[in-house]
Amino acid sequence: MEGSSPMLDAEAVADLVLLDPLTEESLVQTLQERFRRHDIYTYIGNVVISVNPYQALPLYTPEKVEEYHNCSFFAVKPHIYAIADDAYRSLRDRDSDQCILITGESGAGKTEASKLVMSYMAAVSSKGEEVNKVKEQLLQSNPVLEAFGNAKTVRNDNSSRFGKYMDIEFDFKGEPLGGVISNYLLEKSRIVRHVKGERNFHIFYQLLAGASPQLLQQLKLRQDCGHYGYLDRESSSLPGVDDAANFHAMQDAMRVIGFSPDEVTELLEVTAVVLKLGNIQLSSSFQANGMEACSITEPQELREICELIRLDPSMLEQALCTRTVKARDETVLTSLTVPQGYYGRDALAKNIYSRLFDWLVNRINTSIQVKSDEQRKVMGVLDIYGFEIFQDNGFEQFIINYCNEKLQQIFILMTLKEEQEEYVREGIQWTPVEFFDNSIICNLIENSTSGILALLDEECLRPGVVNEDTFLTKLNQLLAKHKHYESKETQNARYITDTSLPARCFRIHHYAGKVTYNVTGFIEKNNDLLFRDLSQAMWAAQHALLRSLFPEGDPQKASLKLPPTAGFQFKSSVAMLMKNLYSKNPNYIRCIKPNDTKSAMVFTPELVLAQVRYLGLMENVRVRRAGYAFRQLYGPFLQRYKMLNRRTWPRWDGGDREGTEVLLAGLAFPAEELAFGHTKIFIRSPRTLFDLERQRQERVSELATLIQKMFRGWRCRTQYQLMRKSQILISAWFRGHRQKNQYKQMKRSALVLQAYARGWKSRRLLRELKSQCRRHAAATTISAHWRGYQVTGPRALRPPLSCCPCRCVRAVCLSAHPVQRYLLGLAKNLPPLSVTDRTWPPAPYRFLDKTNQELKNIFYHWKVGAGGDGENSSWDLGAPAHLRGLWWHQIPPPSAVQEVPGSAAPVAPGPAAGQALCQRALQGQEDPLPQKVPGQGAGGAGELRAAVADGLVPSLQQPFHGDYLGLKQNPKYQKLHAVAKDKLVMADTVRKVNRANGKTVPRLLLLTTEHLVLADPKAAQPKTVLSISDIRGVSVTRFSDGFLALHLKEVSTVGAKGDFLLVSDHLIELVTRLHQTFEATSGQALPLHITDRFSTHFPKGDVSITVVESPKAGTDGPVCKKKGSNKMEVLVH
Ligand SMILES: Nc1ncnc2c1ncn2[C@@H]1O[C@H](COP(=O)(O)OP(=O)(O)OP(=O)(O)O)[C@@H](O)[C@H]1O
Ligand SMILES: [Mg+2]
Repeated sequence: MEGSSPMLDAEAVADLVLLDPLTEESLVQTLQERFRRHDIYTYIGNVVISVNPYQALPLYTPEKVEEYHNCSFFAVKPHIYAIADDAYRSLRDRDSDQCILITGESGAGKTEASKLVMSYMAAVSSKGEEVNKVKEQLLQSNPVLEAFGNAKTVRNDNSSRFGKYMDIEFDFKGEPLGGVISNYLLEKSRIVRHVKGERNFHIFYQLLAGASPQLLQQLKLRQDCGHYGYLDRESSSLPGVDDAANFHAMQDAMRVIGFSPDEVTELLEVTAVVLKLGNIQLSSSFQANGMEACSITEPQELREICELIRLDPSMLEQALCTRTVKARDETVLTSLTVPQGYYGRDALAKNIYSRLFDWLVNRINTSIQVKSDEQRKVMGVLDIYGFEIFQDNGFEQFIINYCNEKLQQIFILMTLKEEQEEYVREGIQWTPVEFFDNSIICNLIENSTSGILALLDEECLRPGVVNEDTFLTKLNQLLAKHKHYESKETQNARYITDTSLPARCFRIHHYAGKVTYNVTGFIEKNNDLLFRDLSQAMWAAQHALLRSLFPEGDPQKASLKLPPTAGFQFKSSVAMLMKNLYSKNPNYIRCIKPNDTKSAMVFTPELVLAQVRYLGLMENVRVRRAGYAFRQLYGPFLQRYKMLNRRTWPRWDGGDREGTEVLLAGLAFPAEELAFGHTKIFIRSPRTLFDLERQRQERVSELATLIQKMFRGWRCRTQYQLMRKSQILISAWFRGHRQKNQYKQMKRSALVLQAYARGWKSRRLLRELKSQCRRHAAATTISAHWRGYQVTGPRALRPPLSCCPCRCVRAVCLSAHPVQRYLLGLAKNLPPLSVTDRTWPPAPYRFLDKTNQELKNIFYHWKVGAGGDGENSSWDLGAPAHLRGLWWHQIPPPSAVQEVPGSAAPVAPGPAAGQALCQRALQGQEDPLPQKVPGQGAGGAGELRAAVADGLVPSLQQPFHGDYLGLKQNPKYQKLHAVAKDKLVMADTVRKVNRANGKTVPRLLLLTTEHLVLADPKAAQPKTVLSISDIRGVSVTRFSDGFLALHLKEVSTVGAKGDFLLVSDHLIELVTRLHQTFEATSGQALPLHITDRFSTHFPKGDVSITVVESPKAGTDGPVCKKKGSNKMEVLVH
């Protein structure tokens, strides 16, 4: 313990367990010193001793509540809040029902302490609309019960004249749910009588002081206290007490609790009736039979009472003044004497008030009781009247002191006896502590056969003469030898002279002191009888509340059975209370009254010492010092603290005791602080326990943090994973979407491209097909004309006017409307066919001028060319003019082929004829071409004519001579003539190009209908003989160079040696005749290639021939130059 701890102060230790030396004087001195310092609370272990300061101290502020909330019991100054907090936490955290027993003599501060406990719990329990309402209702029950149940006594200005035990019920979270109040034995005699200097119950004074004039009028009351017999004018007002304000506070409290305005009115009406009953005065009168009778002298009060309770006044008067006695079957009405009448009146007033008080408690319980069925934890607060020793002690004091005796017994049993017995039971080494066990006194009072209460009941129920004297005699007889009982008689029997013990009295040696009780009134109060006439009158009243208080007044339910006596009832309710308290964990607040004068800060040591003695505080300290502050079964203990040791947390597999030992060994508490019993662990000082609890709190919060951490981690991880999954899903969808879009776009683009490409291909194909069609049609036309020509002769070859040009025109006509109209008109109005006629209709539109001019030219050419097919004429426009002219020569009509003189082969018309034809055509006199080459393109014919005119085609100018060698005539060529015989087509001198070096050598060429022979000019001997069928094709250039490549089939014998490159001065004729011969032999046209670049086949490999226009070429023919092994250049002009 730290030096600064509030517990350690040698002069004024806060815990009397630490007192040294422990004597009564030192204990009282310590209390006094602390009291002087305004430290009114002191501990004995966990028992709080409270010394009434009789002044307001700043100990109950909200800051204090905060200071003690969840505090460590011994870390702060002793306080009621500390024990309240400890009990509340035990209830909430350990799930154990608690009770707070507040004991002490009248005026010691019990009621104040109980209110402090309740307000503390209200402050620290959770807030909420419903919870706050419950709290308010519980707290507001105090002013109502205090108004009706408290009174000023000589000892206490606000003395509780009833015992109160309140069970506050909490839910598992520690939130108040409601409560139940039990009340014990209201001091109802105070209604009719109280000693000088005291007051009746507060409610009467509050009502008269605080009620509005209207309310007073309604209740038929006067504000003057002196007017009422049951009140005492002199002590009507109390210094420092505002009855009027308290009345309003009480009304507010009733509203908070839930009293309806009607209920409040009825309550006050009944209260007023009690007050007014005291004013009913009786006087004696004598009846006719001479018997004394009583009558009401002041009927006004009676009438008012009856108006309030809505009862016939005569009925109440009769009930107050007479009594119905049933004797066998007869009912006799007897008059009461005046004392009997007053007795009846007072009994009625007391009964009404005590029953009203019971109704009040029940009504409060109805409001604050817990409505739900949920499991509850209970905190009981007992504020019961303290031990009383008056000058004159009656039945009430006897009952009150009996109750206190029972409470002391609980204290002894639970703190002293039970504790010591437990040490022995558990095998803990223990030196017994002497203490006084008051069971003997309790037994003296409550024993069911020989107890004072049982004897009193017996006397009350016994037939015959029964009075207090007979009761006392009985007690003296049966209890004479009891240590704690004495009376005048028993003293006399022992020859003891004691003037303090008068006759008609008995004395009990209570734990708190000797109390002398006067037996006067014991029988009557125990019987607590109310004349049946009065209860019936009350039941007959129309006042609902009053009527409900007297159910036995109902004649239907009238029973001859006597009600249980007051003593019996009290004993049973005390037994129930004890049972209730035993079931809970007790917490003690022991209140001490420091002086008899209710003076602030006055400490009378003698008075305090007396209370210290009878409260048994010395024994309490001694047992506490010797014993252990805390004990618990091993199982629950281990369960609660196992998290403090790694070996026991989270699970201990061994026995509970071993686990507890291991657990505590790890915490290293001093050995003397712990004791291991058979079933329980004992901890000596509360400090060790609190240290243990503190460590647990820290560990629990650590574990809670760990759980929170894990949970938060898990939650974040889960969230993260969820987000990640979602993100992946979103991005997958997004990427998919993007790719789909891209794909769609690409697909669209591809389709567009495909469409364009296909369109382009299709158009190209269409063009080609159209072109093929046109060619085919042209070829058909040409062949048709040719056949026609062959059949009818050249003169008859006149194409119908509607043939090709018209078709051409019609085709063009399809293009558009005006064009169509123009062309159709043109077709109908073609000019005459005379070549000299150059007329042509003008173009109807200017945009057709060019076309018109073109058509004019076409027409004119056609006229001149005798129907050359314009469509087909374009195919060879790219060929040189001299070669295009070949076709004119190459397709001579069979009839035009003349035989070479001296030879059998037909020969084409001679050059003179061709030349003459050309000349005629150019002069425009005649169109010779249709006769020669029907179907020849107009362009080709035109160019041919142009070329002839220009003299650019020498071979064309040459007539086809055929035999240039004169084979027949020249004997030198006899051998060759023999070879040719009758089949000669052409004989000429050519130059053969040496394939190796490009140089040329002269050769004689003989073309027969079957062979082509190359011979040595000198020897006139055949060197090479080719079969016409071995010829694969012929290549010529577009120049007038006479160069000719003769391509041979490789499979032939000669062809294997390679192609021939020849230069001829009569190239046109040679090619023409070669073609004719080839066609005659194979039935196919000779493949002719007019090209500047071609390939020739030689045994050593193919040689690429390139024709180059060059000035270096010789005038008498092309010059061949070998370039590398497989290239040759032919230089031409
Ligand atoms: N803690 C306190 N601080 C200030 N005054 C107090 C305190 N406790 C009690 N008192 C004063 O003492 C008076 C008596 O207290 P209280 O009514 O609680 O006594 P009691 O033990 O209930 O007596 P009874 O047995 O007669 O009911 C109170 O009216 C109040 O003036
Ligand atoms: Mg009280």
